[in-house]
Amino acid sequence: MTAKLLRGRVLSFHAEPQAGDESAFTYIEDGALLLRDGVIERRGEYCDLKGLAEEEVDHRPHLLMAGFIDAHIHFPQVQVVASWGEQLLDWLENYTFPAEMKYADPSYAARMAGAYFDLLAAHGTTTAASYCTVHPESVEAYFGEAEQRNMCMIGGKVMMDRGAPQGLCDTPQRGYDESKALIEKWHGRGRAHYAITPRFAITSTAEQLEATQALAAEHPECFVQTHVDENQNEIALAAELFPDAPDYMGVYEQYGLLRENALLGHCIHMTDREIGLVADTGAKPVFCPTSNLFLGSGLYDDAGLRKRGIKGAIATDVGGGTSYSMLQSMNEGYKVLQLQRQQKHPYEAFHWITRGNAVALGLEDRIGTLDEGSDADIVVLDARATAEMRLRAETVETLAEELFLLMILGDDRAVVQTYVAGEPMK
Ligand code: GUN
Ligand code: ZN
Repeated sequence: MTAKLLRGRVLSFHAEPQAGDESAFTYIEDGALLLRDGVIERRGEYCDLKGLAEEEVDHRPHLLMAGFIDAHIHFPQVQVVASWGEQLLDWLENYTFPAEMKYADPSYAARMAGAYFDLLAAHGTTTAASYCTVHPESVEAYFGEAEQRNMCMIGGKVMMDRGAPQGLCDTPQRGYDESKALIEKWHGRGRAHYAITPRFAITSTAEQLEATQALAAEHPECFVQTHVDENQNEIALAAELFPDAPDYMGVYEQYGLLRENALLGHCIHMTDREIGLVADTGAKPVFCPTSNLFLGSGLYDDAGLRKRGIKGAIATDVGGGTSYSMLQSMNEGYKVLQLQRQQKHPYEAFHWITRGNAVALGLEDRIGTLDEGSDADIVVLDARATAEMRLRAETVETLAEELFLLMILGDDRAVVQTYVAGEPMK
């Protein structure tokens, strides 16, 4: 494979910054990345790397950063995003479940997968942890498309055996068997990672959670992903359905689903005991700001969790979430935290959507940085992409100001190019 040299302003985090701390990242004003065989072979000053590759792409004056990572999103909700008027449980029943029924049809699932991956690339997202539907066909479409694009993607079939229309329910045995077969086919194939995906306690019987527990124990290498403590009505229903559990998180505790590679969507309304469980097990809360605002779910307490040693991931949660853009997720996340008198510095924000999420996923040796040896998943950002951005940029003097402008006003228009394993995708 031929080598490629990207020239631009290189920015990569190697640690978590505290506010304006500049020792957490490397920034090279006239920098370059030498890509070969899908990997970043070298990073440095352009003058030291020029001439080393057959092909050079000059991205000056744009920023080169690690591709964005979305830690929670729903592939089958591409036609659910922007559905009016409901909070979580009614929104699921009235919009989401009908849309997910369509994924029984492999040709529909394949068409949506093409559109979904195009959207991710357009928005600079190079890795995502996605929920598919209950239908194995949806997972086939998802990982098939990811494989064609050589993307590092996490995903799994949702397991659900109650509380939804017939066409969206499996059984404890079928959920187990179909998930097992998908793990055997896809986990570790190319860049694919499987996530065992019980949708949430509301849509799984105790018998299904037992089967999920067995599957998770047999596959410690797989992620587990689910939802918890998102909405007050959901929490009340979980308490009704599992009267013996001490709390909502206690259901997942009882079935052995809390562990380091468990991704827990939302975690907004946690009790002290539940926070303790998350801290003790190392499970990862996932903050979904645009979704939490759109569905009126509540405010994620990032600082409170960090005080307890818990570093969550951040995500779009499309279609409860309203944008595929991790920049827009940080924009809304900034506001959610502002309402709680918490200030997220732009260095912290850009660390979060790159290396921070990679660390939460345990994948920081492959993605989330522009370190030599990492996979060449790269986003090229233009802080002057729109008229309003150009005007504001006239008074921007520092890197921190530029990053803040990007995360507040930026979206897919600010993404000039997205490289996946060294290949341009946009
Ligand atoms: N809880 C269970 N399923 C879902 C879903 O699809 N979206 C959101 N936001 N929450 C959920
Ligand atoms: Zn979700």
